[in-house]
Amino acid sequence: MVSSSASTAPPTHDGSAQNATPQPVQVARRLEKFKTTIFTQMSSLAIKHGAINLGQGFPNFDGPEFVKEAAIQAIRDGNNQYARGCGIPELNSAVAERFKKDTAGLLVDAEKEVTITSGCTEAIAATMLGLINPGDEVILFAPFYDSYEATLSMAGASVKCVTLRPPEFSVPLDELRSIISKNTRAILMNTPHNPTGKMFTREELNVISTLCIANDVLVFSDEVYDKLAFEMDHISIASLPGMYERTVTLNSLGKTFSLTGWKIGWAIAPAHLTWGIRQAHSFLTFATSTPMQYAAATALRAPDSYFKELRRDYMVKKAILVEGLKSVGFIVYPSSGTYFVVVDHTPFGLENDVAFCEYLIKEVGVVAIPTSVFYLNPEEGKNLVRFTFCKDEETLRTAVKRMKEKLLKKL
Ligand SMILES: Cc1ncc(COP(=O)(O)O)c(C=O)c1O
Repeated sequence: MVSSSASTAPPTHDGSAQNATPQPVQVARRLEKFKTTIFTQMSSLAIKHGAINLGQGFPNFDGPEFVKEAAIQAIRDGNNQYARGCGIPELNSAVAERFKKDTAGLLVDAEKEVTITSGCTEAIAATMLGLINPGDEVILFAPFYDSYEATLSMAGASVKCVTLRPPEFSVPLDELRSIISKNTRAILMNTPHNPTGKMFTREELNVISTLCIANDVLVFSDEVYDKLAFEMDHISIASLPGMYERTVTLNSLGKTFSLTGWKIGWAIAPAHLTWGIRQAHSFLTFATSTPMQYAAATALRAPDSYFKELRRDYMVKKAILVEGLKSVGFIVYPSSGTYFVVVDHTPFGLENDVAFCEYLIKEVGVVAIPTSVFYLNPEEGKNLVRFTFCKDEETLRTAVKRMKEKLLKKL
């Protein structure tokens, strides 16, 4: 029997009643400064207020049937035990083939240079933990995807940052040049870029490459949105002269196949860098879901028409959201890729991005993400919020309608 006061307390992991005295939460120092991720916070507020979630980047539509069927078939065929640590040979080959196609001919050794991970998030973690020593400097471009800083902290790295500023979010090349030091081990970049939708231009990539080669710096390039490139062609920095040997290309299945919950990712790197990545991967997860790897191999061998259609569908969605946000009165910054668009919310007179997003959820019924969480210095993001258009067209139209009804009056 449990006492009545104990029975109202939340259960513990083993289902028994919780001790009446709440214990202070504990966390290792290297993670102390990080809060619950903004995506978790905003998605739970969205549910609480019945708001339309244009915050977290997951589609509200399903992935393609041929990929789901391949997963079901793989399970039925008995592919249900641990996979080879670095990935099943079929998927390693499919990744290498896809990369060759996407980079117009870059040849990758599928067995020695491709590592399959549990989402790009694990590929990022394995790269940092496998290749960065405590005290090494790593340069980020702010705003940046939130796992970068936390993972670098776990690796004991020293984080340096260069800010991409609106309206173009161009790379301030002189600033970048000036912060590279003899301790700089790597630049961690992301193109197409979350949250801004910026795509790194060939000129920017050329300068970054020259700097990296001259200073013996590695590049970790997160390209999870490479198939959502609208205004220009995506360029993998690994394909630039002299760069393959110093680049880790990080990617995953989730965005391209609208299957964000599957968490199949990979790191492509020359064998001497793959060694460290695989060492970390071995002790983080060892291997990734076997049947999903078979399905991922099928997905990556999809005909070109699949990728064209995906892009076409997203361009329609993007137009609905961008035009809608402009008509509501936001200053909308150009987004060349990803399924995100960043706007300046200041015409509506709220104090900062967090206050604006709270107002938007509670009073308007729409969720956006405050961008200050993507900066080392949150002040730099206080005027900007991010919306996603990875939702069906009706949802996007309804969100715009809600904003027009409630926000326009505030202008
Ligand atoms: C820039 C970027 N990198 C990595 C990820 C994580 O990818 P995955 O879901 O494959 O772990 C995301 C997800 O939102 C992202 O936006």
